[in-house]
Order: sequence, then C-alpha cells, then structure tokens
Amino acid sequence: MRTIAFFNQKGGTAKTTSTLNVAAALVERGARVLIIDMDPQASLSMAVGVDIPSLEQSIYDVLVDDDVRLRDVLQPSSIADIWIAPSHPDLAAAELELLNVLERERRFAYSLSGLVGDAFDYVLVDSPPTLNILSINILVAVDELVVPIEPHPLSIMVLRRLFETISRVRRLNPRLRVVGFLPTKVHHSSRLAADMIETLRVQFPDVPLLTSVPLSVKGAESIIEQTSILEYMPNSPLSAAYRDVAASLAELEVERRERV
Ligand SMILES: Nc1ncnc2c1ncn2[C@@H]1O[C@H](COP(=O)(O)OP(=O)(O)OP(=O)(O)O)[C@@H](O)[C@H]1O
Ligand SMILES: [Mg+2]
Repeated sequence: MRTIAFFNQKGGTAKTTSTLNVAAALVERGARVLIIDMDPQASLSMAVGVDIPSLEQSIYDVLVDDDVRLRDVLQPSSIADIWIAPSHPDLAAAELELLNVLERERRFAYSLSGLVGDAFDYVLVDSPPTLNILSINILVAVDELVVPIEPHPLSIMVLRRLFETISRVRRLNPRLRVVGFLPTKVHHSSRLAADMIETLRVQFPDVPLLTSVPLSVKGAESIIEQTSILEYMPNSPLSAAYRDVAASLAELEVERRERV
C-alpha cells in the first residue's frame, strides 16, 4: 500500500484537484484507491458527492476518538472505484482538542496503520493549506509527498519553510520522501511558469519534476458533475497530464521493487 500526500501549505495550488484526478487516473490503471480528506474545508469530500451535514462520523472522529477507526468512516465516492474518508468542518477544532493528547503528531499515522495492507493499492491524502498539527500528522503518517505548485512569485519562497518542516519531521518519519513537484495551472506560453520550473530545477536538483498540468477551467467544470476530468473530458490535455502523473507515480513503485 502506497501512501502519498498532496502537500503544500500555500493555498490554491491544486492539491484537491490533483488528489482527485490522480486517484481517477490510478483507478483507470486498475488500482484500488482510497482518498482521505484531511482539510477542514472538505472540498475533496464535497467534490466526490459526500453530503457533509448528514455525516455521522468523519476523519475528525478518527483523529480525536480512539474508538473510531479509519475503516469505520470509509464510503464509496461518486467516482467509480474510489473510496473516500471524508472530512468535516469540525476538523478545524482538532488542533485544540489534540493539544493535550499523548503523541498528538502520530494520531493519523496510527489510524493509517490500522488499514489492512491489501485493501488498497494507493492511499492519497489531500492536505489543508496550513502548517499546523493536522499537516504535521500527515507528514508523520505518509511515505511520499507530491508538492503541487502553481506559477506564482511566492510559490518558491514558501518551499523553504516546507522543506525545513519536512527535515524536522523526518526524525519522526524517516521514510518520508518528496517524490516530485507537480507544476499546476501552467499556461504554456507563460514566462512565470517557465521561470518557476527553471528555478525548481536549479534550487531543488534532487526533486523530480512531474508532468506539468495545463491551466484549464475544465477541472472546475468536472467538479460540478461530481466526477473527474478523466471521465468528464477523457481526451483533454488536462486528463493526459494527470494520466502521465499517475504513470510516473506507478513507475516509482516498479523502480523501488527492482532495487529491493
Ligand atoms: N489546471 C487548472 N487550471 C485552472 N484552474 C485550476 C486548475 N486546477 C485547479 N484549478 C482551480 O484552482 C482553484 C484551487 O484548486 P484546488 O482547490 O484544487 O487547490 P487547493 O490547493 O486544494 O486549494 P486549498 O489550498 O484551498 O485547499 C480551484 O478553483 C480550481 O478549480
Ligand atoms: Mg484543497
């Protein structure tokens, strides 16, 4: 079971959009995929048809209540073969509630380890745009990070802080590695995007660059239909990009197996 978080403390970098569409692309390749919404905004949950007000339990309960296990909150999503562990706005309170809990950085890791190993091939985690106890829980729990990043002058600046945090968290989670930057909302002729990609290459030579996701309003349109871009517009450049990203992630697994 691979555990991959889409992580960037900067808002609006297409973490949620990418979690959903990479999940759909992995399913297309025959994988069994669980997506976990760790953002109190619950955008991912809503995008795949979860009715938040009627939820009895969510990832919030899993994190704060020892008696609720991750498998208790899983439900089928509106996209075939993708399961979701939904979020809830209450999750915003988890930070305070976990304040006095023993090993509060490891709550999510503990929940994830309770999933039976062969139920899912991939667990994809959508992260909130913050660096708080919730985000730390994600960094402690997963093995791999994809960092969606949009062409914006501030994008590179926030990366320093992200990598500092990652190296501090490595003491708690030595397996954590950044499997790639995922440039999103990339306009093919934009100077900003080309500059950003070049800066990433120079400043982070060890971090692979995944296929750039083109700027397109089609992703948002597919959300209205409660589906993925792959289902909504299978032949669009956006779908092709997300298929490429999924293929790269799958390939990493093969490489890893071959090394063992
Ligand atoms: N390739 C794209 N082209 C154009 N717009 C996009 C693209 N991908 C995502 N968007 C739009 O950008 C906005 C932010 O995307 P998304 O919600 O996925 O980002 P996020 O990183 O999850 O945001 P947050 O930090 O608030 O959780 C949304 O309106 C989304 O529809
Ligand atoms: Mg989001």
